Amino acid sequence: MKNLVFGLDIGGTGIKGGIVNIKKGRLETERLKILTPRPATPESIARAAHELIEKFEWTGPIGVGFPAIIKNNICHTATNIDESWIGVDVAKLLKKQTGSPVQVVNDADAAALCEARHGAARNERGLVMVVTIGTGIGCGVLYDGVLIPNCELGVSYLKNGIMLEKYSSNAARKLEQLGWEEYADRLNTALLYIDRLMSPDLFVIGGGMAKKLHLFSQYLDERINYVAAEFRNDAGTIGAAMAFENSK
Ligand code: BGC
Repeated sequence: MKNLVFGLDIGGTGIKGGIVNIKKGRLETERLKILTPRPATPESIARAAHELIEKFEWTGPIGVGFPAIIKNNICHTATNIDESWIGVDVAKLLKKQTGSPVQVVNDADAAALCEARHGAARNERGLVMVVTIGTGIGCGVLYDGVLIPNCELGVSYLKNGIMLEKYSSNAARKLEQLGWEEYADRLNTALLYIDRLMSPDLFVIGGGMAKKLHLFSQYLDERINYVAAEFRNDAGTIGAAMAFENSK
């Protein structure tokens, strides 16, 4: 049981979870996914998350990645979840629901923790941005391997006046039925914008889009220095569990 923590990755579209060995940085069980209930209120998500955790008969510690600014377990924003989350202590709510100790971090920060310790950002110096592309766009920022939490570049506005994630997330691609070349153009705009602002040494592309990267990588601008997330979409789940350890 030592080193085992339940990793829970709460997203705008899906909730994913599995039992993680946080020292080895790997899932010890399969990772299950359920749809995020709508409306995505504190009550509905807490209930759904509990049902998912119960499938594993898990009663130990839980680390959570959550799609919002999180400070001391408290949710401060709501882009792809219900507004009633703002001000909620996510850890307290999930502890009440499950009876287990809980720690919460931003979902992209969780993915960055995993990639920094075990994946594509391991041994990388300088500024690395783990960009998770899914319903929204998250940014886990690392400097010399140290996480700088809650960098919300996905909600910044591009020159065209559109919010970066509304323009170039996977949800936007699906909604607007964009072809891969057209989608890559949008991602180029978004990543070059971030590049102009922050001059990262490396982008790590993760989230649900990591497994589709081969479909459009040929259209990505050559000025963008990127690699695919090694743990692909599992980084969020594994990193969420690692965040529990990090909080001790
Ligand atoms: C949220 C971020 C989150 C990202 C990915 C954005 O809408 O503002 O906090 O990391 O989505 O889920």
